[in-house]
Amino acid sequence: MYGTGEWRGLNAHREELDGVHLRDLFVADPIRGERLIAETDGLLLDYSKNRLTDETVELLGALADRAGLRARIEAMLDGEPVNTTEDRPAWHPALRRPDPPPEVRAELGRMAAFAGEARSGRWDAVVNIGIGGSDLGPAMATAALKAYGNTELDVRFLSNVDGAHFREVTRGLDPARTLFIVVSKTFTTTETLANAITARDWIAHAVGVEQASSHFAAVTASPNKAQGFGIHDDVVFTMWDWVGGRYSLASAVGLSFMTAVGPDAFAAMLAGMHHIDEHFRSAPWTENLPALLGLIGIWNRNFWGWPTYAVLPYAQELALFPAYIQQLDMESNGKSVQTDGTPASTATGPVVWGQPGTNGQHAFHQLLHQGTDIVPVEFIGFCRPNHSHTEHHDLLMANLFAQAEALAFGASDADDPHRQFPGNRPSTVLLGDQLTPRSLGQLVALYEHKVFTQAIVWGINPFDQWGVELGKTLATGIAAELAGTADPSPARDSSTQSLINRYVMKR
Ligand code: F6P
Repeated sequence: MYGTGEWRGLNAHREELDGVHLRDLFVADPIRGERLIAETDGLLLDYSKNRLTDETVELLGALADRAGLRARIEAMLDGEPVNTTEDRPAWHPALRRPDPPPEVRAELGRMAAFAGEARSGRWDAVVNIGIGGSDLGPAMATAALKAYGNTELDVRFLSNVDGAHFREVTRGLDPARTLFIVVSKTFTTTETLANAITARDWIAHAVGVEQASSHFAAVTASPNKAQGFGIHDDVVFTMWDWVGGRYSLASAVGLSFMTAVGPDAFAAMLAGMHHIDEHFRSAPWTENLPALLGLIGIWNRNFWGWPTYAVLPYAQELALFPAYIQQLDMESNGKSVQTDGTPASTATGPVVWGQPGTNGQHAFHQLLHQGTDIVPVEFIGFCRPNHSHTEHHDLLMANLFAQAEALAFGASDADDPHRQFPGNRPSTVLLGDQLTPRSLGQLVALYEHKVFTQAIVWGINPFDQWGVELGKTLATGIAAELAGTADPSPARDSSTQSLINRYVMKR
């Protein structure tokens, strides 16, 4: 899009906004905060505290049109091979349609039966073994909807190959009453296989080798490999190759989450996702929440030049949401080559970070308010809590509103320069009615499509992740050396080699 009239128009428009303070924009338009919003299905997006005007939104819409966003949305939702480097669809929206493809419907039925049985008292604990997209989604969602979960069943998540994680996740569990779900699309991921083998030994030690396999289920696109590991056919669930790992929460990858909250809550999450899918397909850009969020992100990233943004949920239950969005956004859009193989001509995916409010206020908000870098913030909050401590909730939300206000408007009446708040720092607020299975589904789909919107404008493929491969290959070679089954590589640099030597000497 770089070099087009639309891009140049936005650049010129941004120059006009240089030096314009958010205070000026709100004074000039007293109902700006009531106008620059969009809403769907109870979810409100207030983007008025960004450094933009109606004209900006219009120009960004024209940029989206120029990029062909509408047609690309249709292609993605209709299952066309939009993942061009791997020549396959990225058809996660099919997983949450009310009329899903037959194989999806069948798998949902198998999942519900499995989850129902797992919740019926046979097990005390279910441990999901997976990493990246095979962990972050179900872990995030299970934590988010604890209030909807089965209190009798302890659902835990094991991801890191660090043995300390295995030790902590299994701490206090009775192996005889623990079920493991091994989740790996490829069933080749080193971390997941190492944890699965250790889990199998742990179970076998307690109940005997013959019984061990009855403590395992699997979710994978490579069922033969799961069977090779000794997992029974009838508890191997399918993940299709047309679902990307970080887009897979609505597939069988969400099995541990479904086990925690039950099939009805899972279905409600799917309905929330589907609502956003259809909204993304049909709403005009000025009312389209995912498109607006994505286009404002582009405005901040490319035209103001801010390289990072923070996701700050004012909901402790969404503590893992920033980490989930980090994978979704950074693994999707951390690319410097366009779909046609040419170098990206503009900056692409920003650095995403964050943690729940109010904790962050006592940690990094100092930099947000007075640091030399501007960090756009996406606040997430809800009108009603999932607990009865309503006075806590008022305090929590008062802080969210105050932070957005302070960032935007600052305070310039202090004589002491150390106490000046420049303001003019952009933020967006997502305000939902309540954190429920449906609204969680809305949020997940909203961010998926935000990331998609940006990828289309940047001309990159958000659905591959070749950038993770080199590290995996090198680690495999080094692991073989550490295990004594391979010689040191003569081509290796002196730094890496001496670190390895020192490790081997001291371990
Ligand atoms: O880190 C790369 C990655 O391929 C992610 O995209 C994926 O979610 C994760 O590893 C786990 O992969 P798998 O489900 O195949 O074990």
